[in-house]
Amino acid sequence: MEILITQEQIQSRIAELARSIEADYEGRPLSLIGVMTGSLMLLADLARSIQLPSRVGVIQAGSYRGATTVGGALYINDTFLPDVAGRDVIILDDILDTGHTLSALKDLIAQRGPNSVRTAVLLRKIGRQIVPIEPDYTGFEIPNRFVIGYGLDFNDDYRHLPHIGVFAEDPE
Ligand code: IMP
Ligand code: MG
Repeated sequence: MEILITQEQIQSRIAELARSIEADYEGRPLSLIGVMTGSLMLLADLARSIQLPSRVGVIQAGSYRGATTVGGALYINDTFLPDVAGRDVIILDDILDTGHTLSALKDLIAQRGPNSVRTAVLLRKIGRQIVPIEPDYTGFEIPNRFVIGYGLDFNDDYRHLPHIGVFAEDPE
């Protein structure tokens, strides 16, 4: 399987993102909210790299689709979302594709009374976005291919890989 982004590249980019987040928030406490399940690796690594007092929480979102990334209906489960009222929130997701997921989650969290809401994605696919949302922090821009690893799955497999691999050329 072709490796698109190595473990070392991911880790050094996460350190860079952590440094810019530290500079932007200047000591203010953060709430890092990871989108389950794809962002778990990013959440764990970024939370440990950011030298700010942080809370960590999760929200679940997904849409039913396979390797062709044909979007189905978006579902959101906020059962485990902690209280974000008055907090500076950064929503973390594995990948920005059409933008539907991140924009829906940003709207939902904005309704819970946070002090601010920003977004961070490890990957952003070029030429796929439908919903206009600009992530505040982006790890890597990638071509339109179906990728797996470091949290990203195909049918719930491959999330454990420490690198990003190309699973399939995206036919769309
Ligand atoms: P969006 O709502 O279209 O932006 O989709 C974002 C979600 O689609 C991500 O959180 C992933 O779960 C999933 N996704 C999009 N592209 C890929 C991919 O190449 N590999 C694995 N999951 C993907
Ligand atoms: Mg996901």
